[in-house]
Amino acid sequence: MKGLILSGGKGTRLRPLTHTSAKQLIPIANKPILFYALENLVEAGIKDIGIIVGDTKKEIMEAVGNGKAFNCKITYIEQESPLGLAHAVLTAEDFIKEEPFTMFLGDNFIKGGITDFVKEFYREKPNALILLTEVPNPWDFGVAELKNKTVVKLVEKPKNPKSNLALVGVYIFDSHIFKASKKIKPSFRGELEITDAIQGLIDQGLKVNPHLIKGWWKDTGKLEDILEANRIVLETIENKIHGNIDNLSQITGKAIIEKGVKIKNSVIRGPVIIGENSRIINSYIGPFTSIYYDCLIVISNSPLKEGFIFLEALKLMIGDHGKVGII
Ligand code: DAU
Repeated sequence: MKGLILSGGKGTRLRPLTHTSAKQLIPIANKPILFYALENLVEAGIKDIGIIVGDTKKEIMEAVGNGKAFNCKITYIEQESPLGLAHAVLTAEDFIKEEPFTMFLGDNFIKGGITDFVKEFYREKPNALILLTEVPNPWDFGVAELKNKTVVKLVEKPKNPKSNLALVGVYIFDSHIFKASKKIKPSFRGELEITDAIQGLIDQGLKVNPHLIKGWWKDTGKLEDILEANRIVLETIENKIHGNIDNLSQITGKAIIEKGVKIKNSVIRGPVIIGENSRIINSYIGPFTSIYYDCLIVISNSPLKEGFIFLEALKLMIGDHGKVGII
């Protein structure tokens, strides 16, 4: 089985959170979202992986490299413009050939990985396996209507959703999806929708199996989702403390404190991750905070008890390779 990660398109919705325009490179607990997708695929035994790239090709390639660091082989596939998920699939046809493949949207994030779904695909041998989850705002997603646990209808971003079951951004297909993708027309948003292509498989009487996700997932196109993903990753971390922590500082709860970090006269309440070479001085860092690399957080001339910086509200990352000082 091959893997296909979709990292084309633009990340405009997240500006100015990142100066990169690739939303797939936004860090969750200091690691780009895209890396979790790659790790999930490799963990499921999928090591021949294509990455669809668009305008942000250079940044994505610089971050991921040739795949050696992830123990897989990466092929970059350029999509002329973000004309839809089914268009991306067609762009990858020469890479995929006749093999089944797992398609992972590069801005999606799934707890617990995808190994079970891959096993289920081999066991049940459907033509497509789709993942669904209940959401409060189905109109923002592709939505599935089920009858007796069978998918009868899929609609992309419906005005009046027939259910609250959203399509999650991980799909497993056999090669029938190529023919189905060639038959569809652009949607109301001008894209070739994978949702319509999968509906085509259903209309042909092919087997499209649904799998309801019990855990969680996030389409990280929105800021609140990224904060939530950050929270859930941090919940699972184990203590790893490097760096230099002075006697006046206190660390409670789980913390990853990387090499070169300096902590002076500060209180750190986990779960927290502090990236390499960051410095925390006279500060309070609250739970569920990720501080990126090379950051400086300081209240100058202020004894700790009078001058806490409460970072709980930020909870994501402070700085982006820049020297950020809160003074
Ligand atoms: O996240 C789940 C949802 O993803 C599903 O519920 C929808 O059915 C599905 O259409 C998709 O909807 P979005 O509107 O959220 O997709 P978005 O345009 O954000 O693209 C998802 C990823 O695919 C993102 O990493 C960019 C990449 N992409 C997107 C397009 C349109 C490409 O690589 N090429 C493209 O042409």
